[in-house]
Amino acid sequence: MDRQNLRHCQRIANTVVSSQSERQLFLDHLTRPAGEVPSDPRRCGQIIAASFKPGLSFVTIHSPRFTSHAPDGRRAQITESEMKAMTYRRYGGPDVVTLANVPKPTLKPNEVLIRILATTVTSADWRARSLSMPGGFSLFGRLVFGLLRPRQPILGTELAGIIDAIGPAVSRFRVGDEVIAFTGGRFGCHAEYRAIAEDGMTALKPENLSFEEAASLSFGAMNALPFLRDQARIRRGDHVLVVGASGAVGTAAIQIAKHFGAVVTGVTSTGNVALVQSIGADRAIDYTKVDFATTGDSWDIILDTAGTVPFKRCEMSLKPGGRLVAVQGSLGQWLGLGKPSRKSGKRVITGVAAPTPEDLRTIADLAAKGELKPVIDRVYPLEDAAKAHAYVDTGRKRGSVVLRVVG
Ligand SMILES: NC(=O)c1ccc[n+]([C@@H]2O[C@H](COP(=O)([O-])OP(=O)(O)OC[C@H]3O[C@@H](n4cnc5c(N)ncnc54)[C@H](OP(=O)(O)O)[C@@H]3O)[C@@H](O)[C@H]2O)c1
Repeated sequence: MDRQNLRHCQRIANTVVSSQSERQLFLDHLTRPAGEVPSDPRRCGQIIAASFKPGLSFVTIHSPRFTSHAPDGRRAQITESEMKAMTYRRYGGPDVVTLANVPKPTLKPNEVLIRILATTVTSADWRARSLSMPGGFSLFGRLVFGLLRPRQPILGTELAGIIDAIGPAVSRFRVGDEVIAFTGGRFGCHAEYRAIAEDGMTALKPENLSFEEAASLSFGAMNALPFLRDQARIRRGDHVLVVGASGAVGTAAIQIAKHFGAVVTGVTSTGNVALVQSIGADRAIDYTKVDFATTGDSWDIILDTAGTVPFKRCEMSLKPGGRLVAVQGSLGQWLGLGKPSRKSGKRVITGVAAPTPEDLRTIADLAAKGELKPVIDRVYPLEDAAKAHAYVDTGRKRGSVVLRVVG
């Protein structure tokens, strides 16, 4: 059996059999040469039957890519109307994320079907999977993601890929176009395909980026851009402090603030000082050695992605009229508790970023001009999404963790 067929067999086994030992038995059966009887045919038959139809003792797995040989002519098809996806059916640790065969999306007239080549695991995937929410938001998490179990079983907020099919009303894209897309809270990118409305958050992929680089462009930037430009109203010459400067939002925020002509300081740990400087920060503060709030310096905007800067802590570090952007805002901050008096002219901005399709095109343009460089920490195959989640869970990733999707 060649490697491609073996991989396909493994994928089928991962999809239809949940226990590790049974999966190996099933795999042994699938990979047996034609006509050979499995060592324990009854057990094998039970496993396969349990996976498909009651009363079926042997099946032939049949697909355009692979046909296994089994003693009985009956077939269970893994068809081209299905795709592989990493799914989670309950909340929990990284191991709740498993490979599954799910229906391929069907196209609405105004939608494009994107064959995904790369996607990422972000802090949003971690929150949705584990229901780890900022202080005071645990019930809110269940309301958003599903009360008893996840409403959307496929995570993933951003992707890069190739348009595979278009609906009859689509005019902006053609089959074969290389694109990026941001699905945000609708998720659904940890899969082989995703359908998206042509006027949704989809843009042509910058030609200078690989699919993996392009896939890691949007999550951080689609959050940093609206916060800085629309809410904090960043201006040329502003002094901006980015706390959590090495993460997905932080690395994008530094580069976007530089694009708007700001003077940028990044707050990060020792190992990430060089990274933060390499993407354009004028200065980096190592938070393990220096507390920015004790430096005597002040900023027009403090953008906090780490959730470590309540207004009280940074009040004296904000210039008159300064804004604290609490990207990881607590419930108290959302409710306006502990905010500055009107007289001070200082403001606390929090909430959920509200990017637009136009923003994604802006971000793609910035990347094409080299003003926004994706930062990739690690790359995993899609099937290793659970390992990628475990790494993201540490809260220490640098930029993006990419999943490579190979069909
Ligand atoms: N409001 C919204 O709409 C919105 C949108 C997107 C994300 N978020 C939230 O924003 C937060 C950041 O997201 P992300 O995707 O950028 O996360 P991320 O990629 O996991 O990065 C987190 C970063 O925080 C840094 N960090 C940890 N402790 C720190 C500390 N005490 N001081 C300074 N930096 C510290 C880490 O760097 P070191 O290893 O150097 O410490 C790490 O790079 C998440 O909580 C996410 O839920 C909110």
